[in-house]
Amino acid sequence: MTNEELIKLAKRARLQSYSPYSHFSVGAALLTWEGEVFTGCNVENASYPAGCCAERTALFAAAAKGKRKFKKIAVAGSFSDEFASPTIPCGICLQALGEFCEDDFEIVLCENDNLIVHKLSEFLPIRFTL
Ligand code: THU
Repeated sequence: MTNEELIKLAKRARLQSYSPYSHFSVGAALLTWEGEVFTGCNVENASYPAGCCAERTALFAAAAKGKRKFKKIAVAGSFSDEFASPTIPCGICLQALGEFCEDDFEIVLCENDNLIVHKLSEFLPIRFTL
């Protein structure tokens, strides 16, 4: 699965976004260690904090199917159908991903037609653990 293919799946998942409050639609596509892809979109709520980001929607869908090891995630967010600036996963999503993913887990973002790849450790150098 190439980064281009994964971003394409994230953009497709974004079309299911339920975001009547922010009007910011996000899609995510998470690649498991076994090569399976789980997608998610942001799902908002009238009680704002009850909403969920696309990354966690994808992660929890995968975790609920017993998946525990992941290679990379692609994220595409925008107010329109253009992706001028990259959508960087929020702190809560980084912590959630950090539960399952190693420091070298890749986060694939898009900026116009370009892909940008970061490692989880760049956005979350250390994480809370119990
Ligand atoms: N959002 C995501 O789904 N992922 C991100 O990486 C950043 C923010 C959502 C949450 C909310 O529904 C909307 O984008 C605006 O913050």
